Amino acid sequence: MAQQADVFKKLVAHCKEYGFVFPSSEIYDGLAAVYDYGQYGVELKNNIKKYWWDSMVLLHDNVVGLDAAIFMHPTVWKASGHVDAFNDPLIDNKDSKKRYRADVLIEDLMQKIEEKINKEITKAKKRFGDSFDEKQFRETNPRVIANQKKLNEIHSRFTKALNDNDLEELRQIIIDYEIVDPVSGTKNWTEVRQFNLMFSTEMGSTADGAQKIYLRPETAQGIFVNYLNVQKTGRMKLPFGIAQIGKAFRNEIVARQFIFRMREFEQMEMQFFVRPGEELKWFEYWKEKRMKWHKSLGMGDEKYRFHDHDKLAHYANAATDIEFKMPFGFKEVEGIHSRTDFDLSSHQEYSGKKLQYFDPELNKNYVPYVIETSIGVDRMFLSVLAGAYNEEEIEGKDGKKETRVVLNLPPVLAPVKLAVLPLVKKDGLPELAKKIVNDLKFDFNCQYDEKDSIGRRYRRQDAIGTPYCITIDHQSLEDNTVTIRHRDTMQQERVKIEKLRDIIADKVSLREVLKKLV
Ligand code: GAP
Repeated sequence: MAQQADVFKKLVAHCKEYGFVFPSSEIYDGLAAVYDYGQYGVELKNNIKKYWWDSMVLLHDNVVGLDAAIFMHPTVWKASGHVDAFNDPLIDNKDSKKRYRADVLIEDLMQKIEEKINKEITKAKKRFGDSFDEKQFRETNPRVIANQKKLNEIHSRFTKALNDNDLEELRQIIIDYEIVDPVSGTKNWTEVRQFNLMFSTEMGSTADGAQKIYLRPETAQGIFVNYLNVQKTGRMKLPFGIAQIGKAFRNEIVARQFIFRMREFEQMEMQFFVRPGEELKWFEYWKEKRMKWHKSLGMGDEKYRFHDHDKLAHYANAATDIEFKMPFGFKEVEGIHSRTDFDLSSHQEYSGKKLQYFDPELNKNYVPYVIETSIGVDRMFLSVLAGAYNEEEIEGKDGKKETRVVLNLPPVLAPVKLAVLPLVKKDGLPELAKKIVNDLKFDFNCQYDEKDSIGRRYRRQDAIGTPYCITIDHQSLEDNTVTIRHRDTMQQERVKIEKLRDIIADKVSLREVLKKLV
Protein backbone atom coordinates (compact mmCIF):
# COMPACT_ATOMS: atom_id res chain seq x y z
CA MET A 1 0.00 0.00 0.00
CA ALA A 2 2.87 2.35 0.90
CA GLN A 3 4.33 1.58 -2.50
CA GLN A 4 1.01 2.39 -4.17
CA ALA A 5 0.79 5.70 -2.29
CA ASP A 6 4.26 6.44 -3.56
CA VAL A 7 3.17 5.71 -7.15
CA PHE A 8 0.21 8.04 -6.72
CA LYS A 9 2.44 10.87 -5.47
CA LYS A 10 4.70 10.37 -8.47
CA LEU A 11 1.72 10.40 -10.81
CA VAL A 12 0.50 13.72 -9.38
CA ALA A 13 3.99 15.20 -9.75
CA HIS A 14 4.23 13.82 -13.29
CA CYS A 15 0.92 15.46 -14.24
CA LYS A 16 2.29 18.83 -13.24
CA GLU A 17 5.79 18.41 -14.65
CA TYR A 18 4.53 17.35 -18.07
CA GLY A 19 1.67 19.80 -18.53
CA PHE A 20 -1.32 17.55 -17.81
CA VAL A 21 -2.82 19.07 -14.64
CA PHE A 22 -1.94 22.18 -12.63
CA PRO A 23 -3.37 23.37 -9.30
CA SER A 24 -5.84 26.20 -9.97
CA SER A 25 -4.48 29.74 -9.42
CA GLU A 26 -1.18 28.25 -8.39
CA ILE A 27 0.64 31.59 -8.11
CA TYR A 28 -1.79 32.38 -5.27
CA ASP A 29 -1.03 29.01 -3.63
CA GLY A 30 -3.91 27.23 -5.35
CA LEU A 31 -7.58 26.73 -4.56
CA ALA A 32 -8.47 23.53 -2.74
CA ALA A 33 -9.88 20.74 -4.91
CA VAL A 34 -9.89 22.88 -8.08
CA TYR A 35 -7.52 22.08 -10.95
CA ASP A 36 -6.61 23.32 -14.41
CA TYR A 37 -5.73 21.12 -17.36
CA GLY A 38 -2.51 21.93 -19.20
CA GLN A 39 -1.52 21.55 -22.84
CA TYR A 40 -1.46 17.73 -22.83
CA GLY A 41 -4.21 17.36 -20.23
CA VAL A 42 -6.72 19.20 -22.37
CA GLU A 43 -5.94 17.00 -25.38
CA LEU A 44 -6.36 13.82 -23.33
CA LYS A 45 -9.58 15.14 -21.82
CA ASN A 46 -10.96 16.08 -25.25
CA ASN A 47 -10.11 12.61 -26.56
CA ILE A 48 -11.94 10.98 -23.64
CA LYS A 49 -14.98 13.17 -24.28
CA LYS A 50 -14.97 12.39 -27.98
CA TYR A 51 -14.72 8.65 -27.31
CA TRP A 52 -17.73 8.89 -25.00
CA TRP A 53 -19.77 11.21 -27.21
CA ASP A 54 -19.24 9.21 -30.39
CA SER A 55 -19.95 5.90 -28.65
CA MET A 56 -23.22 7.30 -27.32
CA VAL A 57 -24.49 9.60 -30.04
CA LEU A 58 -22.95 8.22 -33.25
CA LEU A 59 -23.35 4.55 -32.46
CA HIS A 60 -26.95 4.73 -31.21
CA ASP A 61 -29.52 6.11 -33.60
CA ASN A 62 -31.87 6.58 -30.64
CA VAL A 63 -29.46 8.71 -28.58
CA VAL A 64 -29.10 12.44 -29.26
CA GLY A 65 -27.08 15.21 -27.63
CA LEU A 66 -27.88 18.29 -25.58
CA ASP A 67 -26.01 21.23 -24.08
CA ALA A 68 -28.08 22.75 -21.29
CA ALA A 69 -27.08 25.81 -19.23
CA ILE A 70 -25.33 25.47 -15.88
CA PHE A 71 -27.76 27.89 -14.22
CA MET A 72 -31.29 26.55 -13.89
CA HIS A 73 -34.49 27.71 -12.28
CA PRO A 74 -34.09 27.24 -8.50
CA THR A 75 -37.23 25.11 -8.28
CA VAL A 76 -35.45 22.46 -10.38
CA TRP A 77 -33.31 21.67 -7.33
CA LYS A 78 -36.29 21.56 -5.03
CA ALA A 79 -38.03 19.11 -7.36
CA SER A 80 -34.93 16.96 -7.80
CA GLY A 81 -34.52 16.66 -4.03
CA HIS A 82 -31.11 18.34 -3.96
CA VAL A 83 -32.18 21.28 -1.76
CA ASP A 84 -33.45 18.96 0.96
CA ALA A 85 -31.35 15.87 0.62
CA PHE A 86 -28.07 16.44 -1.23
CA ASN A 87 -26.09 16.14 1.97
CA ASP A 88 -22.96 14.51 3.33
CA PRO A 89 -22.77 13.30 6.95
CA LEU A 90 -19.92 15.24 8.57
CA ILE A 91 -17.99 14.69 11.77
CA ASP A 92 -15.26 16.85 13.33
CA ASN A 93 -12.33 15.80 15.44
CA LYS A 94 -12.23 18.16 18.43
CA ASP A 95 -8.44 17.95 18.80
CA SER A 96 -7.24 18.41 15.23
CA LYS A 97 -10.29 20.55 14.30
CA LYS A 98 -10.35 18.59 11.04
CA ARG A 99 -13.63 17.71 9.37
CA TYR A 100 -14.38 14.32 7.82
CA ARG A 101 -17.20 12.50 6.09
CA ALA A 102 -18.43 9.96 8.61
CA ASP A 103 -19.31 7.47 5.85
CA VAL A 104 -15.83 7.76 4.32
CA LEU A 105 -14.14 7.09 7.69
CA ILE A 106 -16.16 3.87 8.01
CA GLU A 107 -15.56 2.87 4.38
CA ASP A 108 -11.81 3.38 4.87
CA LEU A 109 -11.91 1.11 7.91
CA MET A 110 -13.73 -1.60 5.94
CA GLN A 111 -11.16 -1.30 3.17
CA LYS A 112 -8.32 -1.76 5.67
CA ILE A 113 -9.91 -4.93 7.05
CA GLU A 114 -10.40 -6.26 3.53
CA GLU A 115 -6.75 -5.56 2.76
CA LYS A 116 -5.72 -7.52 5.86
CA ILE A 117 -7.73 -10.52 4.65
CA ASN A 118 -6.26 -10.28 1.16
CA LYS A 119 -2.76 -10.10 2.58
CA GLU A 120 -3.28 -13.34 4.52
CA ILE A 121 -4.56 -14.99 1.36
CA THR A 122 -1.65 -13.79 -0.77
CA LYS A 123 0.82 -15.04 1.85
CA ALA A 124 -0.85 -18.44 2.02
CA LYS A 125 -1.05 -18.71 -1.76
CA LYS A 126 2.71 -18.23 -1.96
CA ARG A 127 3.33 -20.80 0.79
CA PHE A 128 1.06 -23.55 -0.54
CA GLY A 129 1.52 -22.97 -4.27
CA ASP A 130 -0.74 -24.94 -6.62
CA SER A 131 -2.36 -26.94 -3.84
CA PHE A 132 -3.84 -23.77 -2.28
CA ASP A 133 -7.60 -23.86 -1.80
CA GLU A 134 -8.79 -20.30 -1.15
CA LYS A 135 -12.32 -21.27 -0.13
CA GLN A 136 -11.07 -23.72 2.47
CA PHE A 137 -8.50 -21.21 3.73
CA ARG A 138 -11.18 -18.53 4.17
CA GLU A 139 -13.31 -21.00 6.13
CA THR A 140 -10.59 -22.25 8.44
CA ASN A 141 -7.93 -19.60 9.06
CA PRO A 142 -8.75 -18.01 12.44
CA ARG A 143 -7.44 -14.53 11.56
CA VAL A 144 -9.35 -14.45 8.28
CA ILE A 145 -12.52 -15.71 10.00
CA ALA A 146 -12.26 -13.05 12.73
CA ASN A 147 -11.64 -10.23 10.25
CA GLN A 148 -14.42 -11.37 7.92
CA LYS A 149 -16.85 -11.49 10.86
CA LYS A 150 -15.85 -7.97 11.90
CA LEU A 151 -16.21 -6.76 8.31
CA ASN A 152 -19.69 -8.29 7.96
CA GLU A 153 -20.82 -6.71 11.23
CA ILE A 154 -19.61 -3.23 10.28
CA HIS A 155 -21.04 -3.60 6.79
CA SER A 156 -24.52 -4.53 7.96
CA ARG A 157 -24.65 -1.77 10.62
CA PHE A 158 -23.29 0.78 8.13
CA THR A 159 -25.80 -0.12 5.41
CA LYS A 160 -28.70 0.05 7.83
CA ALA A 161 -27.53 3.41 9.24
CA LEU A 162 -27.27 4.86 5.74
CA ASN A 163 -30.66 3.52 4.70
CA ASP A 164 -32.30 4.83 7.87
CA ASN A 165 -30.40 8.12 7.65
CA ASP A 166 -29.37 7.40 11.22
CA LEU A 167 -26.57 9.87 12.02
CA GLU A 168 -26.23 8.76 15.64
CA GLU A 169 -25.60 5.19 14.58
CA LEU A 170 -22.94 6.35 12.10
CA ARG A 171 -21.16 8.05 15.00
CA GLN A 172 -21.62 4.97 17.17
CA ILE A 173 -19.89 2.78 14.56
CA ILE A 174 -16.95 5.20 14.57
CA ILE A 175 -16.80 5.02 18.38
CA ASP A 176 -17.34 1.23 18.64
CA TYR A 177 -14.64 0.37 16.14
CA GLU A 178 -12.29 2.95 17.62
CA ILE A 179 -11.66 4.89 14.44
CA VAL A 180 -9.03 7.54 15.15
CA ASP A 181 -8.41 10.84 13.42
CA PRO A 182 -5.40 10.28 11.12
CA VAL A 183 -4.10 13.76 12.06
CA SER A 184 -4.47 13.95 15.87
CA GLY A 185 -4.61 10.20 16.46
CA THR A 186 -7.50 10.72 18.93
CA LYS A 187 -11.11 9.47 19.16
CA ASN A 188 -12.47 12.79 20.35
CA TRP A 189 -15.36 13.15 17.86
CA THR A 190 -18.28 15.58 17.61
CA GLU A 191 -21.82 14.59 16.64
CA VAL A 192 -22.50 13.74 12.99
CA ARG A 193 -24.52 16.31 11.07
CA GLN A 194 -25.70 16.86 7.52
CA PHE A 195 -24.10 19.40 5.17
CA ASN A 196 -25.61 20.44 1.82
CA LEU A 197 -23.15 20.21 -1.07
CA MET A 198 -24.66 22.74 -3.48
CA PHE A 199 -22.95 26.05 -4.24
CA SER A 200 -25.29 29.00 -4.53
CA THR A 201 -25.01 32.48 -5.92
CA GLU A 202 -27.34 35.37 -6.67
CA MET A 203 -28.82 36.31 -9.99
CA GLY A 204 -29.94 39.88 -10.70
CA SER A 205 -29.16 43.00 -8.67
CA THR A 206 -30.13 43.04 -5.00
CA ALA A 207 -32.30 46.13 -5.54
CA ASP A 208 -34.47 44.16 -7.96
CA GLY A 209 -34.76 41.35 -5.46
CA ALA A 210 -31.97 38.98 -6.43
CA GLN A 211 -32.82 35.34 -6.79
CA LYS A 212 -30.79 32.63 -5.08
CA ILE A 213 -29.69 30.16 -7.69
CA TYR A 214 -27.45 27.11 -7.61
CA LEU A 215 -24.51 25.92 -9.65
CA ARG A 216 -25.73 22.57 -10.92
CA PRO A 217 -24.42 19.63 -8.87
CA GLU A 218 -25.17 17.22 -11.76
CA THR A 219 -25.88 17.73 -15.44
CA ALA A 220 -28.79 15.26 -15.41
CA GLN A 221 -31.49 17.78 -14.48
CA GLY A 222 -30.81 19.80 -17.64
CA ILE A 223 -31.76 16.67 -19.56
CA PHE A 224 -34.93 15.98 -17.56
CA VAL A 225 -36.33 19.48 -18.00
CA ASN A 226 -35.65 19.32 -21.75
CA TYR A 227 -36.88 15.80 -22.28
CA LEU A 228 -40.16 16.78 -23.95
CA ASN A 229 -38.50 19.50 -26.07
CA VAL A 230 -36.12 16.91 -27.49
CA GLN A 231 -38.74 14.18 -27.79
CA LYS A 232 -41.13 16.42 -29.71
CA THR A 233 -38.67 18.32 -31.92
CA GLY A 234 -36.65 15.17 -32.65
CA ARG A 235 -39.79 13.03 -33.07
CA MET A 236 -38.15 10.50 -30.78
CA LYS A 237 -39.86 7.25 -29.94
CA LEU A 238 -39.28 5.37 -26.71
CA PRO A 239 -36.80 3.99 -25.86
CA PHE A 240 -34.47 6.92 -26.54
CA GLY A 241 -31.61 8.67 -24.79
CA ILE A 242 -30.24 12.19 -24.33
CA ALA A 243 -26.51 12.60 -23.78
CA GLN A 244 -24.72 15.61 -22.36
CA ILE A 245 -21.22 16.63 -21.30
CA GLY A 246 -20.75 19.56 -18.95
CA LYS A 247 -19.47 21.06 -15.74
CA ALA A 248 -20.93 20.28 -12.33
CA PHE A 249 -20.12 21.78 -8.93
CA ARG A 250 -20.16 20.33 -5.42
CA ASN A 251 -18.88 21.84 -2.21
CA GLU A 252 -17.06 18.63 -1.30
CA ILE A 253 -15.88 18.67 2.28
CA VAL A 254 -13.40 15.88 2.07
CA ALA A 255 -11.80 16.95 -1.16
CA ARG A 256 -8.72 14.82 -1.61
CA GLN A 257 -6.94 12.43 -3.89
CA PHE A 258 -6.11 15.01 -6.52
CA ILE A 259 -8.72 15.16 -9.32
CA PHE A 260 -10.68 12.22 -7.90
CA ARG A 261 -12.93 14.46 -5.81
CA MET A 262 -13.11 18.03 -7.04
CA ARG A 263 -15.33 21.01 -6.34
CA GLU A 264 -15.65 21.85 -10.03
CA PHE A 265 -15.66 18.86 -12.34
CA GLU A 266 -17.12 17.57 -15.56
CA GLN A 267 -19.70 14.85 -16.14
CA MET A 268 -20.74 12.83 -19.17
CA GLU A 269 -24.32 11.76 -18.52
CA MET A 270 -26.95 9.99 -20.55
CA GLN A 271 -30.58 9.57 -19.55
CA PHE A 272 -32.34 6.76 -21.37
CA PHE A 273 -36.15 6.98 -21.35
CA VAL A 274 -38.01 3.67 -21.36
CA ARG A 275 -41.46 2.14 -20.85
CA PRO A 276 -42.35 1.56 -17.19
CA GLY A 277 -41.71 -2.08 -16.38
CA GLU A 278 -38.88 -2.39 -18.91
CA GLU A 279 -36.34 -0.44 -16.87
CA LEU A 280 -34.48 -3.40 -15.35
CA LYS A 281 -33.94 -4.95 -18.76
CA TRP A 282 -32.42 -1.65 -19.97
CA PHE A 283 -30.42 -1.30 -16.78
CA GLU A 284 -28.69 -4.62 -17.58
CA TYR A 285 -28.22 -3.51 -21.19
CA TRP A 286 -26.43 -0.29 -20.21
CA LYS A 287 -24.39 -1.99 -17.50
CA GLU A 288 -22.94 -4.32 -20.08
CA LYS A 289 -22.49 -1.58 -22.72
CA ARG A 290 -20.68 0.73 -20.37
CA MET A 291 -18.32 -1.94 -19.07
CA LYS A 292 -17.46 -2.83 -22.65
CA TRP A 293 -16.71 0.84 -23.36
CA HIS A 294 -14.17 0.90 -20.54
CA LYS A 295 -12.57 -2.44 -21.36
CA SER A 296 -12.27 -1.68 -25.07
CA LEU A 297 -9.48 0.75 -24.24
CA GLY A 298 -7.29 -2.27 -23.56
CA MET A 299 -5.99 -1.21 -20.14
CA GLY A 300 -6.59 -4.70 -18.67
CA ASP A 301 -9.97 -6.24 -17.82
CA GLU A 302 -8.86 -7.05 -14.27
CA LYS A 303 -8.71 -3.32 -13.47
CA TYR A 304 -12.51 -2.97 -13.58
CA ARG A 305 -15.33 -4.33 -11.46
CA PHE A 306 -18.98 -3.63 -10.70
CA HIS A 307 -20.01 -2.55 -7.25
CA ASP A 308 -23.76 -2.82 -6.66
CA HIS A 309 -25.15 -0.23 -4.26
CA ASP A 310 -26.09 -1.31 -0.74
CA LYS A 311 -27.99 1.89 -0.22
CA LEU A 312 -30.41 2.75 -2.99
CA ALA A 313 -31.52 6.35 -3.30
CA HIS A 314 -35.24 6.60 -2.51
CA TYR A 315 -36.06 7.06 -6.21
CA ALA A 316 -33.87 4.24 -7.57
CA ASN A 317 -34.73 0.57 -8.01
CA ALA A 318 -31.26 -0.55 -9.10
CA ALA A 319 -27.81 1.03 -9.07
CA THR A 320 -24.25 -0.05 -9.68
CA ASP A 321 -20.85 1.57 -10.00
CA ILE A 322 -18.08 0.72 -12.41
CA GLU A 323 -14.93 0.85 -10.33
CA PHE A 324 -11.35 1.15 -11.51
CA LYS A 325 -8.27 -0.05 -9.68
CA MET A 326 -6.67 3.26 -8.71
CA PRO A 327 -3.38 3.39 -6.78
CA PHE A 328 -5.57 3.91 -3.68
CA GLY A 329 -7.86 0.92 -4.29
CA PHE A 330 -10.90 0.16 -6.44
CA LYS A 331 -12.91 3.39 -6.79
CA GLU A 332 -16.06 4.52 -8.55
CA VAL A 333 -15.57 6.04 -11.99
CA GLU A 334 -19.09 5.68 -13.33
CA GLY A 335 -22.57 5.15 -11.91
CA ILE A 336 -25.44 3.39 -13.67
CA HIS A 337 -28.79 4.04 -12.05
CA SER A 338 -32.36 3.00 -12.65
CA ARG A 339 -34.07 6.23 -11.52
CA THR A 340 -37.68 5.12 -12.10
CA ASP A 341 -40.01 8.01 -13.01
CA PHE A 342 -38.95 10.00 -9.96
CA ASP A 343 -37.35 13.00 -11.67
CA LEU A 344 -39.89 13.48 -14.45
CA SER A 345 -42.86 13.00 -12.11
CA SER A 346 -41.41 15.41 -9.61
CA HIS A 347 -40.77 18.08 -12.29
CA GLN A 348 -44.30 17.52 -13.54
CA GLU A 349 -45.63 18.14 -10.07
CA TYR A 350 -43.49 21.22 -9.28
CA SER A 351 -43.85 22.86 -12.71
CA GLY A 352 -47.50 21.98 -13.25
CA LYS A 353 -46.61 20.99 -16.85
CA LYS A 354 -47.40 17.55 -18.23
CA LEU A 355 -44.24 15.56 -19.00
CA GLN A 356 -45.99 12.48 -20.33
CA TYR A 357 -45.22 10.51 -23.43
CA PHE A 358 -47.90 9.19 -25.75
CA ASP A 359 -47.03 5.59 -26.63
CA PRO A 360 -48.65 4.88 -30.01
CA GLU A 361 -48.20 1.12 -29.64
CA LEU A 362 -49.93 0.95 -26.26
CA ASN A 363 -52.21 3.84 -27.15
CA LYS A 364 -51.66 5.47 -23.77
CA ASN A 365 -49.91 8.32 -22.00
CA TYR A 366 -47.37 7.77 -19.24
CA VAL A 367 -44.30 9.28 -17.58
CA PRO A 368 -41.29 7.29 -18.86
CA TYR A 369 -38.85 5.52 -16.56
CA VAL A 370 -35.17 6.41 -16.80
CA ILE A 371 -31.86 4.59 -16.85
CA GLU A 372 -28.94 6.90 -16.26
CA THR A 373 -25.26 6.38 -17.07
CA SER A 374 -23.09 8.99 -15.37
CA ILE A 375 -19.32 9.19 -15.61
CA GLY A 376 -16.93 11.87 -14.39
CA VAL A 377 -14.52 13.06 -17.09
CA ASP A 378 -11.89 13.89 -14.48
CA ARG A 379 -12.16 10.50 -12.78
CA MET A 380 -11.93 8.80 -16.12
CA PHE A 381 -8.85 10.93 -16.86
CA LEU A 382 -7.30 9.87 -13.54
CA SER A 383 -8.07 6.20 -14.12
CA VAL A 384 -6.52 6.32 -17.59
CA LEU A 385 -3.37 7.98 -16.27
CA ALA A 386 -3.15 5.66 -13.27
CA GLY A 387 -3.47 2.64 -15.55
CA ALA A 388 -0.93 4.03 -17.99
CA TYR A 389 1.83 5.27 -15.66
CA ASN A 390 4.82 2.94 -15.63
CA GLU A 391 8.41 3.06 -14.49
CA GLU A 392 10.62 0.56 -16.29
CA GLU A 393 14.22 -0.46 -15.72
CA ILE A 394 15.96 -0.43 -19.06
CA GLU A 395 19.49 -0.67 -20.30
CA GLY A 396 20.71 2.81 -21.11
CA LYS A 397 23.91 4.16 -22.56
CA ASP A 398 27.06 2.09 -21.88
CA GLY A 399 24.94 -0.78 -20.59
CA LYS A 400 23.99 1.18 -17.44
CA LYS A 401 20.53 0.60 -15.96
CA GLU A 402 18.20 3.56 -16.13
CA THR A 403 14.54 4.24 -15.41
CA ARG A 404 12.16 4.95 -18.23
CA VAL A 405 8.96 6.72 -17.18
CA VAL A 406 6.34 5.93 -19.77
CA LEU A 407 2.63 6.54 -20.11
CA ASN A 408 1.25 3.46 -21.88
CA LEU A 409 -1.89 5.38 -22.80
CA PRO A 410 -4.43 3.77 -25.10
CA PRO A 411 -3.16 5.22 -28.43
CA VAL A 412 -6.62 6.54 -29.27
CA LEU A 413 -6.53 8.78 -26.18
CA ALA A 414 -2.89 9.88 -26.36
CA PRO A 415 -2.56 13.70 -26.53
CA VAL A 416 0.13 13.54 -29.22
CA LYS A 417 -0.04 10.69 -31.71
CA LEU A 418 3.38 11.04 -33.28
CA ALA A 419 6.59 12.98 -32.86
CA VAL A 420 8.78 13.64 -35.85
CA LEU A 421 12.46 13.87 -34.94
CA PRO A 422 15.34 14.74 -37.30
CA LEU A 423 18.44 12.88 -36.12
CA VAL A 424 20.56 16.02 -36.56
CA LYS A 425 19.70 19.69 -37.08
CA LYS A 426 21.39 19.93 -40.49
CA ASP A 427 21.87 18.31 -43.90
CA GLY A 428 18.22 18.84 -44.86
CA LEU A 429 16.86 16.49 -42.16
CA PRO A 430 14.79 19.20 -40.36
CA GLU A 431 13.25 20.22 -43.69
CA LEU A 432 12.14 16.67 -44.47
CA ALA A 433 10.84 16.22 -40.90
CA LYS A 434 8.77 19.43 -41.15
CA LYS A 435 7.41 18.34 -44.50
CA ILE A 436 6.17 15.09 -42.92
CA VAL A 437 4.56 17.01 -40.03
CA ASN A 438 2.87 19.41 -42.46
CA ASP A 439 1.50 16.48 -44.37
CA LEU A 440 0.23 14.47 -41.37
CA LYS A 441 -1.05 17.29 -39.15
CA PHE A 442 -4.47 17.21 -40.81
CA ASP A 443 -4.91 13.64 -39.58
CA PHE A 444 -3.11 13.48 -36.26
CA ASN A 445 -1.83 15.64 -33.45
CA CYS A 446 1.89 15.73 -34.41
CA GLN A 447 4.88 17.25 -32.70
CA TYR A 448 8.21 18.33 -34.20
CA ASP A 449 11.24 18.18 -31.92
CA GLU A 450 14.88 18.74 -32.84
CA LYS A 451 16.33 19.69 -29.43
CA ASP A 452 18.69 17.41 -27.43
CA SER A 453 19.93 13.90 -28.18
CA ILE A 454 17.55 11.46 -29.81
CA GLY A 455 17.45 9.40 -26.59
CA ARG A 456 16.27 12.36 -24.52
CA ARG A 457 13.67 13.23 -27.13
CA TYR A 458 12.32 9.66 -26.98
CA ARG A 459 12.09 9.94 -23.16
CA ARG A 460 10.14 13.18 -23.39
CA GLN A 461 7.65 11.56 -25.76
CA ASP A 462 7.40 8.43 -23.56
CA ALA A 463 6.58 10.67 -20.60
CA ILE A 464 3.58 12.20 -22.38
CA GLY A 465 2.49 8.88 -23.88
CA THR A 466 3.18 9.50 -27.59
CA PRO A 467 2.65 6.11 -29.26
CA TYR A 468 4.99 6.74 -32.22
CA CYS A 469 8.28 8.52 -32.81
CA ILE A 470 9.39 8.95 -36.40
CA THR A 471 13.11 9.47 -36.84
CA ILE A 472 14.54 11.05 -39.97
CA ASP A 473 18.15 10.17 -40.79
CA HIS A 474 20.44 10.50 -43.78
CA GLN A 475 19.10 7.34 -45.35
CA SER A 476 15.66 9.00 -45.38
CA LEU A 477 16.95 11.52 -47.93
CA GLU A 478 18.14 8.74 -50.18
CA ASP A 479 15.30 6.21 -50.12
CA ASN A 480 12.30 8.00 -48.61
CA THR A 481 12.20 5.70 -45.59
CA VAL A 482 12.14 6.59 -41.88
CA THR A 483 12.27 4.63 -38.66
CA ILE A 484 9.12 4.33 -36.61
CA ARG A 485 9.61 3.63 -32.90
CA HIS A 486 6.81 2.01 -30.94
CA ARG A 487 6.41 3.50 -27.46
CA ASP A 488 5.47 0.31 -25.59
CA THR A 489 8.08 -2.06 -27.00
CA MET A 490 10.68 0.54 -28.03
CA GLN A 491 11.08 -1.55 -31.19
CA GLN A 492 12.00 0.32 -34.34
CA GLU A 493 11.23 -0.55 -37.91
CA ARG A 494 12.02 1.08 -41.22
CA VAL A 495 9.04 2.08 -43.30
CA LYS A 496 8.28 4.08 -46.44
CA ILE A 497 7.23 7.66 -45.73
CA GLU A 498 4.10 7.28 -47.84
CA LYS A 499 2.98 4.36 -45.63
CA LEU A 500 3.13 6.38 -42.39
CA ARG A 501 -0.44 7.68 -42.48
CA ASP A 502 -1.97 4.22 -42.82
CA ILE A 503 0.29 2.58 -40.24
CA ILE A 504 -0.48 5.23 -37.62
CA ALA A 505 -4.19 5.57 -38.43
CA ASP A 506 -4.62 1.85 -37.97
CA LYS A 507 -3.50 2.10 -34.33
CA VAL A 508 -4.72 5.51 -33.18
CA SER A 509 -8.02 5.99 -34.94
CA LEU A 510 -11.19 6.20 -32.89
CA ARG A 511 -12.94 4.28 -35.63
CA GLU A 512 -11.15 1.05 -34.73
CA VAL A 513 -12.08 1.30 -31.04
CA LEU A 514 -15.68 2.28 -31.81
CA LYS A 515 -16.01 -0.75 -34.10
CA LYS A 516 -15.30 -2.99 -31.12
CA LEU A 517 -18.35 -1.57 -29.34
CA VAL A 518 -21.03 -2.59 -31.79
N1 GAP B 1 -26.53 12.25 -12.05
C1 GAP B 1 -26.02 11.24 -11.20
C2 GAP B 1 -24.82 11.63 -10.49
O1 GAP B 1 -24.39 12.78 -10.51
P1 GAP B 1 -22.95 10.70 -8.94
O2 GAP B 1 -22.63 9.27 -8.56
O3 GAP B 1 -23.11 11.69 -7.85
O4 GAP B 1 -24.24 10.60 -9.84
C3 GAP B 1 -21.59 10.56 -11.14
O5 GAP B 1 -21.84 11.21 -9.94
C4 GAP B 1 -20.10 10.57 -11.47
O6 GAP B 1 -19.59 11.90 -11.42
C5 GAP B 1 -19.24 9.78 -10.48
O7 GAP B 1 -19.20 8.42 -10.80
C6 GAP B 1 -17.89 10.45 -10.64
O8 GAP B 1 -17.20 9.90 -11.75
C7 GAP B 1 -18.26 11.89 -10.96
N2 GAP B 1 -18.14 12.74 -9.75
C8 GAP B 1 -19.06 12.92 -8.79
N3 GAP B 1 -18.61 13.77 -7.86
C9 GAP B 1 -17.36 14.14 -8.25
C10 GAP B 1 -16.37 15.02 -7.72
N4 GAP B 1 -16.57 15.71 -6.61
N5 GAP B 1 -15.19 15.16 -8.39
C11 GAP B 1 -14.98 14.47 -9.55
N6 GAP B 1 -15.88 13.66 -10.09
C12 GAP B 1 -17.06 13.48 -9.47
